[in-house]
Amino acid sequence: MTGQAHNRPGDSPLVAVKDLSVLFDAGRAGFWGGKRLIVHAVEKVSFDIHPGETLGLVGESGSGKSTTGRAILGRVPVSEGQIFFQGKEITHAGKNQVRELSRDMQLVFQDPYASLNPRMKIIDIVAEPLLVHGVVKNIREAAKEVARLLELVGLPPDAGARYPHAFSGGQRQRVGIARALALKPRFIVADEPVSALDVSIRAQVVNLMQDLQSQFGLSYLFIAHDLAVVRHISHRIAIMYAGNIVELADRDLIYDAPVHPYTRALLSAVPVPDPPVQRARQRITCPGEPPNPLNPPSGCRFQSRCPYVTQTCRDAAPVLTQRRSGQRAACWNC
Ligand SMILES: Nc1ncnc2c1ncn2[C@@H]1O[C@H](COP(=O)(O)OP(=O)(O)OP(=O)(O)O)[C@@H](O)[C@H]1O
Ligand SMILES: [Mg+2]
Repeated sequence: MTGQAHNRPGDSPLVAVKDLSVLFDAGRAGFWGGKRLIVHAVEKVSFDIHPGETLGLVGESGSGKSTTGRAILGRVPVSEGQIFFQGKEITHAGKNQVRELSRDMQLVFQDPYASLNPRMKIIDIVAEPLLVHGVVKNIREAAKEVARLLELVGLPPDAGARYPHAFSGGQRQRVGIARALALKPRFIVADEPVSALDVSIRAQVVNLMQDLQSQFGLSYLFIAHDLAVVRHISHRIAIMYAGNIVELADRDLIYDAPVHPYTRALLSAVPVPDPPVQRARQRITCPGEPPNPLNPPSGCRFQSRCPYVTQTCRDAAPVLTQRRSGQRAACWNC
């Protein structure tokens, strides 16, 4: 399946993010009224996610991936830009609207060890959203639905009676997914859902998420550090660097014909099973660190690490422009 199938003209997006910026106030420098410190976490980020589509969001630590996902879910305030869900603006949703929206939009966390309350039985963990939203009156009423959800994610029927410590990381993440599905959402932000798991079981959890997507027509924003993890599940992939999206393209174009030097550097780190393909791939490394989010440079944020940097890159920030059908990149020189 390719992203094309999910981008038919006329298909309206489920989620639309337009010029999203999230700035965090990090207090003042020094003790006595120094300069205000503003963290530029996300700036001018735009993308759509269509029904049944997975958008992979990839970038190194601190690039603003979680902040983007959390902003869509109403968990961090939006500084600028707009967010739409099913065509309706939800940018500055209040507490009640966020609660209502959580029926349709859910979060799957990175760390299945930290995100499940160790003192709650699995049945209580999975039933919690059903109780909070008044879908069921009590835990007895929830039992049948919880059993159905546990079966759906491939856990044994008696799992509900046990505590999280009885399960492996992969099984715990299945519990997290069952809980996220309880209210029959249409959209899930999966924030590095397999990063904390053994490499050997990552594929199982990714496959499960893919099966659930085709069963229920779910849309995902699937966040990851590296391009290897998102390959199989994503229809399109957005590459994030220091708060900006630097490339956004159909999945196969990202792997076969990447444009931005940062995408190409990320790709150099992904092993290819086919040696001729590996050799043919133009390797690129970009040593150095991302800019300080308290004081990002004007111009392109990648300038300090880019092998192709010119004066234009220092003077002005590039915006995403079309390179091929289904591929946009933000770069002056590529
Ligand atoms: N509540 C907050 N207050 C201040 N700064 C924040 C807050 N949340 C995130 N940040 C900062 O915003 C930037 C983006 O953080 P974010 O967590 O979105 O990155 P990320 O891409 O998800 O990183 P990781 O891969 O490590 O999870 C970082 O510089 C981070 O320190
Ligand atoms: Mg994160």
